[in-house]
Amino acid sequence: MESGLSYAQAKALLEWQIDLGATEAIAETPVNRYEAPAKQPKPTKTPVVATPVEAPKIDPVQIAREAAQQANSLDELKAAMAAFEHCELKRGARNLVFSDGDPSARVMIVGEAPGRDEDIQGKPFVGRAGQLLDAMFSAIKHGRAEAEHPLYITNVMPWRPPNNREPSPEEMAMMMPFLERHIALAEPEILVLMGNVPCQAVLGRKGITKLRGTWSEALGLPVLPMCHPAYLLRQPLAKREAWADLLSLQARLRG
Ligand code: URA
Repeated sequence: MESGLSYAQAKALLEWQIDLGATEAIAETPVNRYEAPAKQPKPTKTPVVATPVEAPKIDPVQIAREAAQQANSLDELKAAMAAFEHCELKRGARNLVFSDGDPSARVMIVGEAPGRDEDIQGKPFVGRAGQLLDAMFSAIKHGRAEAEHPLYITNVMPWRPPNNREPSPEEMAMMMPFLERHIALAEPEILVLMGNVPCQAVLGRKGITKLRGTWSEALGLPVLPMCHPAYLLRQPLAKREAWADLLSLQARLRG
């Protein structure tokens, strides 16, 4: 911009303004310094990365063990299981399926897990497989409501797994202390394991078609693995072996 000032005049003018205290060059557009200052943008801070607070580690198996040990009766055990919050299956289940039959029975049957009917009724083995189980045992004069030869029935898992899937090893491990306590409180003479899941839980082995009919010992008791009645419904030819297993159980009970 042409000012008409000589170099010396312009320099002198500038020095005079500096002497007066001017600290900024005059801008193209005027600035009203009396206006409220615009909000200063917040200085961008380097984001502080929050150190995650470590959630205390929980061990569901240990919690189950302690809860089960504190139960001194079957009612207390059932209440302890109902209060156990670490098994996800509980969230999807309608009912806790604890047991059915006579707790003083000499024979305790351990199944896998409730299905749809058991979930609705809150009792083990009440669906089609359960009807077959009742028919099988009534052939050797045993039954859950049989006064002379009663049965006591439970499952490894007290809650129905979604879509009747097999319980996971973690789910089984966390419910195992409850099953062990259940057996200890009921004090049966003999355990019958119905299918692979209770064999895995109690014997640590699977392969029911090989294990069935062979007596072994676990948790201080004689144990008889048998094919699950649901399997017998699908494979009726296997009923012949199931009959042999029932006779073997009867003979053992007659001692
Ligand atoms: N199958 C099982 O193993 N348990 C039940 O209670 C019902 C079906």
